[in-house]
Amino acid sequence: MKGVILAGGLGTRLAPLTTITNKHLLPIYDKPMIYYPVQTLVNAGIEDIMVVTGGNNAGDFLRLLGNGRAFGLKWLRYAYQEGEGGIADALSLAEHFAEGEKILVMLGDNVIEKDILAPVRAFRDQEQGARILLKEVPNPSDYGVAVLDGDRVKTIIEKPKDPSTNFAVIGIYMYDGGVFDRIKNLSPSDRGELEITDVNNMYIEDGSMTYDILDGWWADAGSSIEGWFQVNKQVADGGANRLSG
Ligand code: G1P
Repeated sequence: MKGVILAGGLGTRLAPLTTITNKHLLPIYDKPMIYYPVQTLVNAGIEDIMVVTGGNNAGDFLRLLGNGRAFGLKWLRYAYQEGEGGIADALSLAEHFAEGEKILVMLGDNVIEKDILAPVRAFRDQEQGARILLKEVPNPSDYGVAVLDGDRVKTIIEKPKDPSTNFAVIGIYMYDGGVFDRIKNLSPSDRGELEITDVNNMYIEDGSMTYDILDGWWADAGSSIEGWFQVNKQVADGGANRLSG
């Protein structure tokens, strides 16, 4: 399985820290934010990784990560997202890289405590479709929220004002090769973006979406300054997914 890390956007929710640099280059304790998703993919056994960036400071990713040697990788690939098209638009840039294979997609501002070996193994065995990871959170209205019916996801609602469950859809998604055709059928949301939640709901509608509950803590370091600060503390206190280097 190949990996795609999405690290574009303007990061306006972290302004003014992001006024002069890309959100994913900001520190989380003693490492740049982007190190954490790269290490999570490497720990999951994924060695062919594309970083999709955009906005300002795109060249700094190359300077920082180079060919991925700090992570034991032979190479890294890069793509540049023009404009602010959203997560699904950024993912569409990985179509040729994926070559029809299954992919694991991780948002560059997501940090997890443990590893995702078990769900990745389960998705390798899953014939087709998609797989998402959920985590119970105290503030579900900041995220995509999953409505469950036993072992089935009924639907995902993006940032509901009045969420009916507290299961956040975290920024780690596994897709079969059909994901790029689905993205081509999306229309922009009210915030003018191609939403990853709409892609996931397409898989749910045709009955090919599965899920796991993430083991250990999860944090979205890009949703607010307070959230970013909390992750720094969590990593300082307890570490995160065995970072190398
Ligand atoms: C995105 C997704 C949301 C998901 C979150 C996880 O939100 O749209 O469904 O729960 O990432 O980090 P965004 O950060 O774009 O607001």
